[in-house]
Amino acid sequence: STAQAAAEMPPIPEVTGDVVEGDGNDYTIKFSIGTTQSGAQYRGLEYFEDIVEARSDGHIQVELFHSAQLGDDLQAVSALQSGTLEMTAPSTSPLVNMFPQFAVFDLPFLFPTPEVADEVLDGEIGDSMLGIASSNGLVAIGWAENGYRQLTNSQAAVDSPDDLDGLKVRTMQNPIHLDIWRTLGANPTPMSFAELFTALEQGVVDGQENPWITIQSSRFNEVQGYASETNHVYTPFITLVSERFWNKLPESYQQMLVEAAQQMGDYEREVSRSLNDQIKQELIDEGMQITELTPEQVTTFQESLAPVYDNWRDQVGGELIDSIRATS
Ligand code: PAF
Repeated sequence: STAQAAAEMPPIPEVTGDVVEGDGNDYTIKFSIGTTQSGAQYRGLEYFEDIVEARSDGHIQVELFHSAQLGDDLQAVSALQSGTLEMTAPSTSPLVNMFPQFAVFDLPFLFPTPEVADEVLDGEIGDSMLGIASSNGLVAIGWAENGYRQLTNSQAAVDSPDDLDGLKVRTMQNPIHLDIWRTLGANPTPMSFAELFTALEQGVVDGQENPWITIQSSRFNEVQGYASETNHVYTPFITLVSERFWNKLPESYQQMLVEAAQQMGDYEREVSRSLNDQIKQELIDEGMQITELTPEQVTTFQESLAPVYDNWRDQVGGELIDSIRATS
């Protein structure tokens, strides 16, 4: 069914934009991601490859690596810093120790719709976050989406925080996510995504949370009977380039990569959103029991999570939170 999902993705657009004059040198970009080859993110990378190779007239070759083949999100970021990898696009969450303001993307239920997320990421706030992330050996050139996270587990249907009592939930390596699941009464464990399938299969953890497309493309439904449509956190992907590599490029190529990252981000979000409902239905057809929450049930989760805002408001910045709320 992943092959079927891939067949129904919006087609990769034609490359637009002129060929860009470089400096006569040839370059190779190894671009590595944590999600699998059948997800929306990889599809976005294929478009990026088309754009960059066409607009550099073949002077920049792009090589794609999926499924954390070259390391998980944090390892890939370190590889950018040391210059052994040119590009990656992690979720923002594992980067929060490096960039404390990124915690804003981990606050529960802050982005009510994808349109609000777009307005924030493609506007002033997103630009200033790209500026913040352009340090520590990294250059941040654009946004895409991982998307709204949904809870899955192997034990029972979940429609209220009471159902989470003691449930062992894998989280990303991020303190706000830990706080969320502890506050809800679960027993969270931070773990690299690369270890997750085995941990679920062996019962080291009972559950995890990720967008539908990641749940399906990672085959978590084979080891998780239950899911709840919680939409509790919207996670962006941030497109990063190694600063060491960046500084070797002529300005004309740097500008072209920024444009390509923007086009990739727009297309990847379109793919991610168009697949969401389709994939949810496929998961149901494949036997997963999916619980959709009523607005009242969502409110119960939101109210239970109020202390998380108290705990992180100072680190994230109250003004930033308020300005995002004002967007919706
Ligand atoms: O769950 C995670 O660790 C992330 O959502 C993933 C799938 C690696 C994408 O960055």
